[in-house]
Amino acid sequence: MCGIVGYIGTEDAKEILLRGLEKLEYRGYDSAGIAVANDNGVHVFKEKGRIASLRDVVDTTVDGTVGIGHTRWATHGVPSKVNAHPHQSTTERYTLVHNGVIENYEQLKREHLTNVELKSDTDTEIIVQLVEKFTAEGKSIEDAFRHTLSLLKGSYAIALLDNEDTDTVYVGKNKSPLLIGVGDDVNVIASDAMAMLQVTNQFVEIMDEEIVIVTRESITIKTLDGTVMTREPYTAELDASDIEKGTYPHFMLKEIDEQPFVIRNIIQKYQNEDGSVRLDDDIRAAMKGSDRIYIIAAGTSYHAGLVGKQLIEKIAQRPVEVHIASEFLYNMPLLSDNPLFIFISQSGETADLRGVLVDVKKRGHKALTITNVPGSTLSREADFTLHTYAGPEIAVASTKAYTAQMAVLTLLAVDTAKAKGIKLDFDPLQELAIVANAMETLTNQKEQFEQIARDYLTITRNCFFIGRAVDFYVGLEGSLKLKEISYIQAEGFAGGELKHGTIALIEDGTPVIALATQKHVSLSIRGNVKEVAARGANACIISMEGMEEEGDAFVLPAVHEYLTPLAAVIPMQLISYYAALHRDCDVDKPRNLAKSVTVE
Ligand code: F6R
Repeated sequence: MCGIVGYIGTEDAKEILLRGLEKLEYRGYDSAGIAVANDNGVHVFKEKGRIASLRDVVDTTVDGTVGIGHTRWATHGVPSKVNAHPHQSTTERYTLVHNGVIENYEQLKREHLTNVELKSDTDTEIIVQLVEKFTAEGKSIEDAFRHTLSLLKGSYAIALLDNEDTDTVYVGKNKSPLLIGVGDDVNVIASDAMAMLQVTNQFVEIMDEEIVIVTRESITIKTLDGTVMTREPYTAELDASDIEKGTYPHFMLKEIDEQPFVIRNIIQKYQNEDGSVRLDDDIRAAMKGSDRIYIIAAGTSYHAGLVGKQLIEKIAQRPVEVHIASEFLYNMPLLSDNPLFIFISQSGETADLRGVLVDVKKRGHKALTITNVPGSTLSREADFTLHTYAGPEIAVASTKAYTAQMAVLTLLAVDTAKAKGIKLDFDPLQELAIVANAMETLTNQKEQFEQIARDYLTITRNCFFIGRAVDFYVGLEGSLKLKEISYIQAEGFAGGELKHGTIALIEDGTPVIALATQKHVSLSIRGNVKEVAARGANACIISMEGMEEEGDAFVLPAVHEYLTPLAAVIPMQLISYYAALHRDCDVDKPRNLAKSVTVE
C-alpha cells in the first residue's frame, strides 16, 4: 500500500508528480503529499484526503525540476496532514517518502533518537531522522543512507531529498515495489510504471536491499554494502489508454466491460497453431510431477482459487487444497511428499502471499505465480509465472482479474490433463470463447442488473448470497463485491448451511440472492430458496438457460458446466456496482481499502 513517485529532469516537477500520484491512488488514498526542490531549498505540500485535496494546497508559484511524492494508506498513525508524507528531519535538511512498514521503528527510536522530538506518529519519520543523525555524526549522505537502511527491519521503497544537494535523489528498496524510469536528461522513480509512463516507458527494476543514486544524467545502483550493480532497462508494455477511464464514469464499469476481450486475449496467448492449449514445458512438468497442489491467495483471488480447485480436480484429476494466505503459516496442513504451490495474485505484491512464498521456498518447494503483473515480486520470486493478460486493473474491487485468473486456471488444468494422458470430452478454448460471448451478452444487459439492484438492495442493511457446488464460491465473490463497494453487510453461504444457524437472520424483506447454474444441485438450491422465502426473504434467483423456472430474476446464457463462474459473476459485479452507485458510494475507491495490500 502507499505509492511513491520521484522526478529529476528539466521540466517543472509539480504537475508530473501530481499526475503520477493520481495513477497510484489505487495504492492508498488517505492523504498525499509532494516535495519540490529548487535553488531555495525543498518545499513540502501535503494534505489529508485525495490527490484532488492536495492539488488545492500546492503553491503553483513554487517551481522546481526535482521532486518526490506519496499517496498514503495509513498503517502507523491516523490519516492526517501531520502523518502524511513527505516527512522532514528536525533541521529540514532531509525530506523523505516511504512505502512499506518499519517493524523495528520503536526499537530504533529508543536506541538512536531519544533526544529527537518526532512530529508524527508514523514509523517512517524515524528513517529521515536517522539519516540526519548519522550525517551529523560525520558520515557522508550516501553512507548515512546505506547505514540507516541496514538498520531497518521490514519493507520499504524510499526516496530522499537533501536540500544541500538538490541535484540528486537517493532511493532505497526492500520488499516494497520500486522502479526507476530512465530518459534523456531525466530519470523518474515510481512504485508502478503506470505512474511515470507520462515521462518514459524504459524502466529498471530495483532489487531488495539496493539503493540508487539518481541524478538527471545517471542512475547508480548499489547494494547496501556499496557494491555497484549494472542492470539494463526494459520496455514497459503498457498502453497509456489502458489506465484511462475514457468515456466510462468508473474504472470498475470499464473493467467489467473488458472481460470478454480479456478472455479472448487469454485464448490467443495460450493457443498453439493447431488450436490446442500451450503452456510452458517447465510448468507442465511441475504440475505433472507434483502429488498435491496448494493454492495460496487472498480475497477475490482466493475465490478464484476455490473455483481453480474444482477445475484442476475435475479436469486434471490432481488433488488441490486452497488456503487463505494470511492463515497458511499458522494453520499449516501436513504437506504431501511433492507439493506444488500456486500463488494467485492480481497485483503480485500481496504481503500475506509473499510471507508464504518465502517460507515454502526455504523448505525447497516449487512455486508457480498466476498474476496480472509479470514483473511483480511474487512473479520474480516464484519458479514459474502464468500471466493473466487482463491489462491494468485500476478499480479497487477486482473484476476482470478474477475472471482472467479462472480462465488461466482452466488452461492449466487442461494442460496438466493432457500431460497425464487424460482425454477431455470438450474443447476448452472453444468453451472459453463461448464464455466470452456470454459475458458480452451480459454486459449488454446492464439495465436489468441496475433494476435488480434497485428492487433488492435499495433499502437494506444486509444481503445473503447462496449457492451450492461451485455456485457457492461465486456467491462468496458476489458478497465480497457487494460489501466492499456498497458497504451493505453481505455474506455468502452454502445453500445447505443456512439452516444450521444463519437462517435466524432472515427477516421480512431480507434480500437473498441465489445462484442456480449447476444442474445436479438445482433442485436443492431452489429448496433452500423456498425455506428463506417462507421466512419473509426477498429472494432473487439467478439461473442458467436449461435450468430456468418461472419467476427467476435473471437467466444466464448457457456455458460449459465447469465454466459457469466466469459468466455467473458478471451479474454479481454489476448488481454490486449499481447498488454502490445508488448509495452514492465511491465505487472505484471504497473507504479503508487499497488495491495492492503490501502489509501483513
Ligand atoms: C477484492 C479484492 C481483494 C484482492 C486481495 C488480493 O475486490 O480485490 O480481495 O483480491 O486483496 O489481492 P491480489 O490478488 O493482488 O493478491
